[in-house]
Amino acid sequence: MHCVRKVLDDLYWVGADDHRLALFENIHPIPRGVSYNSYLLLDEKTVLFDTADWAVGRQFLENVQYVLNGRPLDYLVINHMEPDHGASIEEILLRYPEVKIISTEKAVMLMRQFRFPIDGKTEIVKEGDTRCFGAHTVTFVEAPMVHWPEAMVTYDTTNGVLFAADAFGSFGALDGKLFNDEVNFDRDWIDDARRYYTNIVGKYGPHVQALLKKASGIDIKMICPLHGPVWRTDLGYLIDKYDKWSRYEPEEKGVLIVYASMYGNTENAARILATKLVEKGLTNIAVYDVSNTHVSYLISESFRYSHIVLASVTYNLGMYPLMHNYLMDMKALNLQKRKVAIMENGSWAVKSGTRMQDFLEGMKQMEVLDTKLTISSALRDENLEEMDAFAERILESVQA
Ligand code: FEO
Repeated sequence: MHCVRKVLDDLYWVGADDHRLALFENIHPIPRGVSYNSYLLLDEKTVLFDTADWAVGRQFLENVQYVLNGRPLDYLVINHMEPDHGASIEEILLRYPEVKIISTEKAVMLMRQFRFPIDGKTEIVKEGDTRCFGAHTVTFVEAPMVHWPEAMVTYDTTNGVLFAADAFGSFGALDGKLFNDEVNFDRDWIDDARRYYTNIVGKYGPHVQALLKKASGIDIKMICPLHGPVWRTDLGYLIDKYDKWSRYEPEEKGVLIVYASMYGNTENAARILATKLVEKGLTNIAVYDVSNTHVSYLISESFRYSHIVLASVTYNLGMYPLMHNYLMDMKALNLQKRKVAIMENGSWAVKSGTRMQDFLEGMKQMEVLDTKLTISSALRDENLEEMDAFAERILESVQA
């Protein structure tokens, strides 16, 4: 049975939720599911904006068929070719053999790589090209690396709708809701939106900045992303978040403490540090165990906070492997402009601090604070003064 939402009188959401997928891109946990958004415009011509993951293909196709209500499908605009959106293209071509695909040259190349039978069915567009479908005229805006090189966004000049591809999306299934004003985004969605952005698009901040610059020159009234809620109010809220994230500016002054502990002694020190910071009046603190927190959450929190404390046991004369994995991900995603304090532990050759410092010095604009706490196996009374000074230095930096 179809399950659609009306976006505007002549525009429908024909996407679908996926609650069965455990790992997005087979790597990021999505306990709240995910939506694959697709939109169908009923003008003199019928125009489908993107398709959906094959996992929800049946629901998606039923939705398209229902909204078309017997009309042919004239155009399929592909803004993004990653298979979570492009996988159902082949089935659309089979069901609507007269459809023309409108997309970028690179996207068409990817369609061929994915072995879709598109010969004679494509119209290549580039930046600034327009198409008129009747009452609606759209213009195409290239958005390379947001989040693949072929990506574009499509702006409907008639009603101000921006079909934004991966930009402004979020993890999380819609579950009947569609618009941002039907959910409490700041309470229920922002963490998943941040985790989606930082882990999926985070590496490409300068490209997102370029898109935001282009977007600032057009009058956007509604944002229709490929995942998560459609934005029709308070657009500035999300645009501001995207601006901060893509400039790698922290959202909040506060301290993220990530610890790697084998037998609980480094964890104990991390918690004592957190306690001291709170006692000194700094309450915006989050503490995570690198061993039981998926790295996508650590990355998201790293984009959020201004300060990070890395506390690691020494392992094979180096960093604990999961701490190393977290830092490698942080570097791969281009995180910058954070102040980091290091706490190291070891029972005979304490090396984790030096290794973490060397790693951070190989990253862009990461400042390692001029303080370090070294623990030999476990904290003892005589370390408490050092711990206090360590906390004081972090506090001073946060308050600077
Ligand atoms: Fe949701 Fe880059 O695909």
